[in-house]
Amino acid sequence: MNLLTNQIAVVTGAGRGIGRAIALGFAAEGANVVCVSRSLENAERVANEVRGLGRTSWAYGVDVADAAAVQASADTILNAAGRVDILVNNAGITRDGLLVRMSEADWDAVLDTNLKGAFLFTKALARAFMKQRSGRIINIASIVGLIGNAGQTNYASSKAALIGFTKSVARELASRGILVNAIAPGFIDTDMTSVLKEELKTEMLKTIPLGTFGQPEDIASAALFLAGPGARYITGQVLTVDGGMVM
Ligand code: NAI
Repeated sequence: MNLLTNQIAVVTGAGRGIGRAIALGFAAEGANVVCVSRSLENAERVANEVRGLGRTSWAYGVDVADAAAVQASADTILNAAGRVDILVNNAGITRDGLLVRMSEADWDAVLDTNLKGAFLFTKALARAFMKQRSGRIINIASIVGLIGNAGQTNYASSKAALIGFTKSVARELASRGILVNAIAPGFIDTDMTSVLKEELKTEMLKTIPLGTFGQPEDIASAALFLAGPGARYITGQVLTVDGGMVM
């Protein structure tokens, strides 16, 4: 028995990395997947991989920080798919730099994508979830939202706020049977982290009790649990998936 048979999942930032792994992990468990990414080409490539697993898939090129574009795409998604059962707010960016040198533009860009993007997509689909009296929302935060990180004041703030957002939406929508949780990944091997200097990665590795970086599939399996029947009594939680960095 597949865990997500015939469910419709929307995954933002699905074009690569963790979002792609979640899209494919959900599809492997029977879900039909709406792949949203800034780049339509990347979204379409992953949608084709989902189709290769025998599921239906749709691809949309949308900037999650653009309110009008998000609303329009949510309407199109609901028309095309008929309903949505799961939303994964995964799209995220970094613009690292020390506080004293951080530009307002880098602050705004990170908050707009990582926090406002999740707000806009959740709001755009919330009425549909409420009407159905069911739904799962999974926000991809980060352990730096829990413990902070030098050089990432913008990113850590966006992820800490995303956790506050998760808990508040969980309280607002619980009576409608909608579950809202977050995942806080540690260091995951993706394009986002491949740009970091080797010396920094060697230092990071020393702080991970399990002694290895995580893979996108490690986050996908946590998302699958939160989306599936086993999590029916879990809401407002942050599931840390970090090889033991934060205990
Ligand atoms: P990535 O950079 O490989 O992929 C991010 C995806 O989001 C890309 O497909 C990109 O096009 C999309 N995206 C970015 N901005 C967007 C926008 N404005 N509108 C629509 N799509 C947009 O990153 P990765 O590593 O897969 O990260 C995914 C999520 O996991 C992010 O929210 C990130 O903050 C979070 N995360 C990643 C960690 C890591 O170590 N890689 C650790 C903790 C959290």
